[in-house]
Amino acid sequence: MNTVREHFVPQGPKGSLLAGNLMAYRKDPLQFLIDLQQNYGGVAKIRLGPQSMYVIYDPDLLKELLIAKQEHFVKLKAFQEARLFVGDGVATSTGEKHKRVRRLIQPHFTRAHIQTYAGQMADIVERELDRWAPGQRRSLTDDISNITFAIIAKTLFSLDGDEYARAIREPYETINRMCAERMRQLAAMPLFVPTAKNRAYKAALQSLDQSVYAILQERKRNPELGAGDLLSVLIEAKDENGHGMTDQELRDELMIMFIAGHETSANALSWAFSFILRQPEVERKLHEEWDRVLQGARPTAETYMQLTYTQNVIWEAMRLRAPSFFTGRSAIRDVELGPLRVKKGQSVLFSPFAIHQNPTYFPDPQSFLPERFEHDLLKRIPQFAYMPFGGGPRGCIGNHFAMLEMVIALTMIGQRYRLRLAPGHPPTEMEPLMTLRPKNGLDIVVESANG
Ligand code: HEM
Repeated sequence: MNTVREHFVPQGPKGSLLAGNLMAYRKDPLQFLIDLQQNYGGVAKIRLGPQSMYVIYDPDLLKELLIAKQEHFVKLKAFQEARLFVGDGVATSTGEKHKRVRRLIQPHFTRAHIQTYAGQMADIVERELDRWAPGQRRSLTDDISNITFAIIAKTLFSLDGDEYARAIREPYETINRMCAERMRQLAAMPLFVPTAKNRAYKAALQSLDQSVYAILQERKRNPELGAGDLLSVLIEAKDENGHGMTDQELRDELMIMFIAGHETSANALSWAFSFILRQPEVERKLHEEWDRVLQGARPTAETYMQLTYTQNVIWEAMRLRAPSFFTGRSAIRDVELGPLRVKKGQSVLFSPFAIHQNPTYFPDPQSFLPERFEHDLLKRIPQFAYMPFGGGPRGCIGNHFAMLEMVIALTMIGQRYRLRLAPGHPPTEMEPLMTLRPKNGLDIVVESANG
């Protein structure tokens, strides 16, 4: 063994006796995660309340965590709070249960299969854009959320219509905010205590459940509504003993897909616009690419491949504003990770948001420069130096899906309308909830594309 590793003692910021570094984390989680990398390099040791944990920035150590040693870890324990509403679906479950469901849904997310969704994705964007008109002031973040939500509903579950979106998204907004708040607390008030906040939280959870169960019942009554879609595959799946999934299990898988699949993409797209609308040169290059490649036609799965600058704009937006800004794993047994000895139950965190700001791989890291992704940047830097979709067997199953829908939506919005930030729009701040959102959204004024 090399001696550096043997003598390596991870360092971290000194915290208070009781809360450790929790106050610094709660005050500004994003800055906290960036400072750790700047001050401690590839790995830092922190304490949030009684729990000491590692935060990893080094790409090789991340690779070991997420690929070579992934069997020794489960998704972060601290996300248990989220399990209350997300349940025990593919993103949160462990072991055999996770493998089984992931295998079941994987065929719906291959590059080849995703291409078949391109037409539906474009139809949904078009339908949304038909509601817009020059001169309107709109919340682009809300509009984009409508689009990404409707895309999941239609492509995976064959659901049409705004009523599903409303019935799920409204309670979800309440839950998202409260869940993030609870996760940041050292000891959140147990849910059985009838505080006003707890009551609102539980009511939203109930309403979300009702909506998802209603979707399930409707499909079970009318299986022909979505033959061959992901929901029908989940409903028909049997385990080795011939047992199907329970309603609770189906509810959990459905919920995961809605949540993992719509908010992250919506955020990434909103962030992309927040940069584009402040950098006319980027907007000009996008139009140049759309005109050259598409000549006014809608983007398709085939032309997607040629929209490389558009893709790079999205890669760069996700570099500076990684929607999944931090996540992690908890060890299920004592395990060595590079020079670290991770104890059973101990957590190892990583922050794509902070990792993406390393000047070694991204010179001038604060600048929005889509060109940096040209000439196969991702092949020239270590695999885990850029990781908006995580990686390994628990990485994002929807990465190709997300890229395709984001390129289609960005392109079609830009082809049809010219957007301007609403007059007096303040700088767009970051709001780290379950995902990294533009705080207070993005308000725009719609102009005609030729105007
Ligand atoms: C810009 C869009 C997206 C981003 C940035 C993103 C990011 C991520 C990340 C970082 C993870 C891994 C988390 C971890 O390792 O702890 C993840 C997991 C996951 N994502 Fe995405 N995601 C996006 C879009 C989607 C879409 C569109 C879907 C589905 C349609 C999806 C479904 C999932 C699922 C099911 C998992 C859990 C995988 C597992 O644990 O096996 N995501 N995502």
